[in-house]
Amino acid sequence: MNYTILGIESSCDETAAAVFSTNKGILSNELFSQTALHARFGGVVPEVASRSHLEKIRPIVTAALYKAQIELGDLDALAVTYTPGLPGSLLVGLSFAKAVAYALDKKLIGVNHLEGHIFSACIEHTIPFPFVCITASGGHTALYIVEDYGRYTLLGQTLDDAAGEAFDKVAKLMHLPYPGGPVIEKLAAEVGFQDFFEYPRSTPHSLNFSFSGLKTAVLYDLVKREAYAMESKTFLKEDDLLLKQQVASSLLVCVGDIFEQKLALVLKEYPVQAIAFVGGVACNKYLRARLMNFSEHHKKAFFTPSPAYCTDNGAMIAFVGHYKAMKQEWSDFSLDIR
Ligand code: KG4
Ligand code: ZN
Repeated sequence: MNYTILGIESSCDETAAAVFSTNKGILSNELFSQTALHARFGGVVPEVASRSHLEKIRPIVTAALYKAQIELGDLDALAVTYTPGLPGSLLVGLSFAKAVAYALDKKLIGVNHLEGHIFSACIEHTIPFPFVCITASGGHTALYIVEDYGRYTLLGQTLDDAAGEAFDKVAKLMHLPYPGGPVIEKLAAEVGFQDFFEYPRSTPHSLNFSFSGLKTAVLYDLVKREAYAMESKTFLKEDDLLLKQQVASSLLVCVGDIFEQKLALVLKEYPVQAIAFVGGVACNKYLRARLMNFSEHHKKAFFTPSPAYCTDNGAMIAFVGHYKAMKQEWSDFSLDIR
């Protein structure tokens, strides 16, 4: 059976749509990023996000169909993120997908956003199963054993903040722009990715992560260095570029160490064939290089998606929708957001 699937993603601050076909793979991958709308608030504002999705969903879907050179009628199914995410944002994508599917008598496929991230690694690569997948984004950080398409087991996850959130929050502490990840990477590169301040490596013996403690450790360290005033919540070293570089670099090295520690624990217990690194944080070239070296050292193949498939995107939703279609795993119209 051949399927042409439209994937729709609107769980957070990206309005995204993509088309995947059985014979040709990804035919289009369109996206509107709301980053600029949220930047001045230092994080995603849910109300602003859902209003923007409402404005952009139709043009983005139209663009995805146009780039793929198909029309709505050519689709077999609409795959859409229904969980997890911001309720108002999820509702826009799901309602849109349901309405189109209902009106044109197409199949509907609900996709879990995290399943999308996990299998984003498989869009461009054929990865041998089972593989361990480290998923690190602004909302989630988790480790999975991936046994097959659609079959995966959670090994551990963050008990509080996500890794991307730690970058975003530390960046905010130092009055750096949102999102924090890219700017932390840039500053760290300027001082050669050294560990200046030796922040604590949390939960070393567990497969769970904790990044809220790391953010607090950075905060207290800044207070100790007289660089941050707790009472007024102000960064006091606005002009001290070296300090910002050293904090960014120490933070990034620390997160790299934590990722490697977890993967080492997994490799001890599970006979995996490969290691995959996905999610917005996987855009980070330093972390990609470290995990690639780590994998080589442990004689495992290493896979990470192109940056466009690391951050939130419609392609990963269309891809998951496609293998669900192959297995005839349709959703009914009672599907709701979670
Ligand atoms: O996957 P994503 O686009 O959205 C969520 O599902 O959360 O991930 C966004 C996160 C943000 O926290 C951002 O700071 C982080 O990914 N990020 C990075 C980099 N680019 C984006 N973190 C580290 N280094 C980067 N280059
Ligand atoms: Zn995501």
